[in-house]
Amino acid sequence: MRMMPVVAGNMRETSKEYNLLGYKIPKQTYVTFAHQYTSMMDSHYPRPREYIPERWTVDKDDPLYHGNAHPFAFSPFGFGTRSCVGRRIAELELEAFVARVVQNFHIEWFGKQLKQYQSALNYVKGPFNFTFKDV
Ligand code: HEM
Repeated sequence: MRMMPVVAGNMRETSKEYNLLGYKIPKQTYVTFAHQYTSMMDSHYPRPREYIPERWTVDKDDPLYHGNAHPFAFSPFGFGTRSCVGRRIAELELEAFVARVVQNFHIEWFGKQLKQYQSALNYVKGPFNFTFKDV
């Protein structure tokens, strides 16, 4: 979700004029929040191109600790009253699915890294070089 989120970002139209850190943003301007970009910044997530799930479980004193990132750097479901209403369902499904798979299989990947391409949504391209072995 950090490296290959479903959508690269989201957008809002300003309902009034804003001054953000000295940037004047007029009323009725489209503002894009590119969370895929911010979640791949080294200043938020060290070694950003590496898949290191332990970021989310290590202690606070570990340099990889996810809490060192800005709270909005990783925001795959958007934010606020128009954020994703399906978030809890999606997270529950993902966690239940991944938990069942890792409980039952030893998973490996061979060959090249998975590639993604961007359209309105992000997609991944096969081949999906997984091997699943019963544990
Ligand atoms: C991994 C799965 C999903 C991701 C990453 C995702 C991501 C998003 C994002 C980024 C938005 C826009 C939020 C914003 O503009 O602030 C959104 C909106 C929305 N999502 Fe999801 N979504 C997921 C799954 C689902 C599911 C399973 C449902 C329905 C059961 C759902 C229903 C909706 C709806 C209805 C909106 C529009 C909310 C509104 O405009 O008020 N999403 N989603």
